[in-house]
Amino acid sequence: MKALIASGGRGTRLRPITHTQNKHLIPIANKPILHYAIEAATGAGIKEIAIVHNADSDEVPKAIGDGSRWGVRITYIPQLVPGGLSQVVALSEKFMGRDKFIFYLGDNMVVGGVKRFVDEFERSGCNCFLTLAKVKDPERFGVPEIKDGRIVSVEEKPKNPKSSFAVSGIYLYDSCIFEAVKAIKPSARGELEISDAHQYLIDKGYKVGYAEITGWWKDTGKPNDLLEANRLVLDNITPTIDGSVDNHSTVSGKVVIGKGARIVNSIVRGPAIIGENCVIEDAYVGPFTAVGNNTVIRKSEVEYSIILRDCKILSIGIRLEGSILGNDVEVVEGTGKPRVHRFMIGDQSRVEVV
Ligand code: DAU
Repeated sequence: MKALIASGGRGTRLRPITHTQNKHLIPIANKPILHYAIEAATGAGIKEIAIVHNADSDEVPKAIGDGSRWGVRITYIPQLVPGGLSQVVALSEKFMGRDKFIFYLGDNMVVGGVKRFVDEFERSGCNCFLTLAKVKDPERFGVPEIKDGRIVSVEEKPKNPKSSFAVSGIYLYDSCIFEAVKAIKPSARGELEISDAHQYLIDKGYKVGYAEITGWWKDTGKPNDLLEANRLVLDNITPTIDGSVDNHSTVSGKVVIGKGARIVNSIVRGPAIIGENCVIEDAYVGPFTAVGNNTVIRKSEVEYSIILRDCKILSIGIRLEGSILGNDVEVVEGTGKPRVHRFMIGDQSRVEVV
């Protein structure tokens, strides 16, 4: 069993963060999203992983490396343009050979790992095994139609979904999938859709099985999904305090404080993570907040947010909530007259003021 992880695409729904950073490297609880995908594969005992990445950037290979830190071998496969998930699979044919594999979309997160699905797939004798999750908005996903316990069709982002399930971004295949991804044609939006490959397998009489993800699963395609994923991961962190907390501060709940970080005259209410060398001074950091390394939060309040590294949040009068700040961002008190909001914001940013 091998693994294929998709880390290409343009991440348009997460701009402006993705103007300067691949979306799969955005941290959730201070760890790149892609690490969760790799750990899912290694947790299922997989030792050989291929990662498909955008050919015009070596950001992912550089950040992730050869896999030795996880005790696995990672091979990188460049994708010239994001031509769809079936194209991603097609690119991996040589790497996979005749082996079975798990295809894991690098922006998906699932609690509890994927070993149970790998085991079920192996037992089932299926050619293709889909994992399904009940969702409120199936029209955003690939949607299966299920009759008498069998998947009879799969439609990509249908206007009128035939069930309340989404096909999640965790798929298991044997080498029949390569016949399917080579046979299908691009969809109306110009992509080789993975749902069309699944439909091909169903139509040709291949055995397509499924399992339901009953726990938590997220496709982190949109800002709110990132915040929710961050909340759920933080909920399960193991508290550790490697930095310093002075006598005038209160740290409660599950909190991780990184090496060299200083909490001074502040309240940190977990679950939260404060990165290395941060300074939290005369401040409040509330539940479900992740603060990246070297960030300073002074005389300010932050809650339910993702703050990346090297940020400065200084003397702002209103609590930041539900916010995502990229690397090296400053949110500071304006000085002088007139008393105004003053912005220096890049393309496709979003600011809400009261
Ligand atoms: O998350 C589950 C959904 O993922 C499924 O329900 C859909 O059937 C499936 O098509 C997919 O839909 P998305 O709209 O979420 O796909 P997206 O374009 O966001 O790409 C998913 C991941 O694959 C993301 O990590 C980017 C990467 N990707 C995408 C394309 C189109 C590539 O690496 N190369 C590509 O060509």
